[in-house]
Amino acid sequence: MTDTSVFVVRPSGPLFGSVNIKGAKNSVLKLMAATLLAEGTHHLHNVPDITDVKIVAELLRRCGVSVSFAGEGHVIIEVPPTEKIVPRASLELVSKIRASVVVMGPLLARCNWVELAQPGGDDFGSRPIDYHIEGFSALGATFSERDGYLFGRTEGLTGSRVVLEFPSHTATDNILMAAVLAEGRTVIENAAREPEVIDLASMLISMGADIRGAGTSRIEVQGVPKLSPADHWVIPDRVEAASFLAAVAVAGGEVFLRGAREDHMEMLLRKVASVGVHIETTPQGILAKSEGKLKAVDVSTLPYPGVATDYQPLIVTMLSVADGTSVVSENLFSGRFRYVEELRKMGADIFTDGHHVVIRGTPRLKGARVQASDIRAGVALVVAALVADGETEISGVRHIDRGYERIEERLRALGADIERRSAQDLTGCADVG
Ligand code: EPU
Repeated sequence: MTDTSVFVVRPSGPLFGSVNIKGAKNSVLKLMAATLLAEGTHHLHNVPDITDVKIVAELLRRCGVSVSFAGEGHVIIEVPPTEKIVPRASLELVSKIRASVVVMGPLLARCNWVELAQPGGDDFGSRPIDYHIEGFSALGATFSERDGYLFGRTEGLTGSRVVLEFPSHTATDNILMAAVLAEGRTVIENAAREPEVIDLASMLISMGADIRGAGTSRIEVQGVPKLSPADHWVIPDRVEAASFLAAVAVAGGEVFLRGAREDHMEMLLRKVASVGVHIETTPQGILAKSEGKLKAVDVSTLPYPGVATDYQPLIVTMLSVADGTSVVSENLFSGRFRYVEELRKMGADIFTDGHHVVIRGTPRLKGARVQASDIRAGVALVVAALVADGETEISGVRHIDRGYERIEERLRALGADIERRSAQDLTGCADVG
């Protein structure tokens, strides 16, 4: 997979079949970081084959950890004794993946110091890490900055009460990972409640951590001196499930999302049902049926259990081909409507006003050359292209590969007309990429 790949998509009509939902990106990256907390051999299963996992694997290797991909989603991580760990995350890797920040908690807890290049913003705006730093400071770490690097030190973390200003997902994960080896009791108030936080807590508990309340707004941790290695299955990716759901919603058809968990995506499923998609849930997964005739609905993104911001580009895409006018409000990331310009090139009738968009549905879109600017925006353009007359070329596929395992092959297996081409394969398309 090269940086110059593009997706070429043509409308295919309804999608049919079954797709296996892979492990959750926003869980596995934290689980990989959490292995730093215990010396020994860890086993992670259901790990998706995506670029972000490879980058975090490289980050761990630079810390002195051995990471091997054993096939079929099984990753073996061997963590050395504390004195052999190098608690550093370089600019080269942090600039590739902002989630690198999650090594801070485990490294501070394990090594008593950490050096991290300052993470920059994202394509959807500035993304500070002040809540993480405030949390670690409450546990007794001190920080300084030099030449774009953050240096954290502690004489040994001690439990404390941490009140998050906002229920930040990754700050909750990071502080939780620091607290499990801190001396005494930590309480995280206004904690994030995402299923991925519960997944992390359950892996940490299986390693010997004492954690109560994960999945609620108040997490209590009693520090323990030592943890043992993990053997853990990653939960299914609810955003990936939502992406396939959006694909069948717009294209029509009947698709079984094998492994998708209704209890992780309840609010989204309610919204999608009100848009006109028929949803049936079973213990094995979620069945989505659609005639491709969607209705307008208003949506606001919120922290879990609200409708996640990661679904927002998919929702806006569905509503662009719905009957009627919808308003979508984005309450987490100010810049997360930048992809709307690309949807407009495809004929979507969308008006942006601050953190709201007004969408006047139109029955079909039209093919265009568009650019994916981040993971979810990219996949939303793929979904849009399924109902765009003519041909759509989506560049910036590397963003999609960060979070989706070979999505084009899996969509094709459902009947979609999508192929990956390298830019040089495209005659007269030298400007794509
Ligand atoms: N925030 C701060 N200070 C902080 C941390 C967060 O001001 O120290 C703000 C953010 O700027 C944002 C809000 O708090 O306005 C919420 O951000 P949060 O920390 O919850 O986001 P995150 O943990 O950095 C994770 C996912 C994102 C997802 C968000 C929201 C990972 C690796 N990333 O980010 O996923 O959008 O939660 O659910 O878990 C994606 O998968 O495409 C993606 C961007």
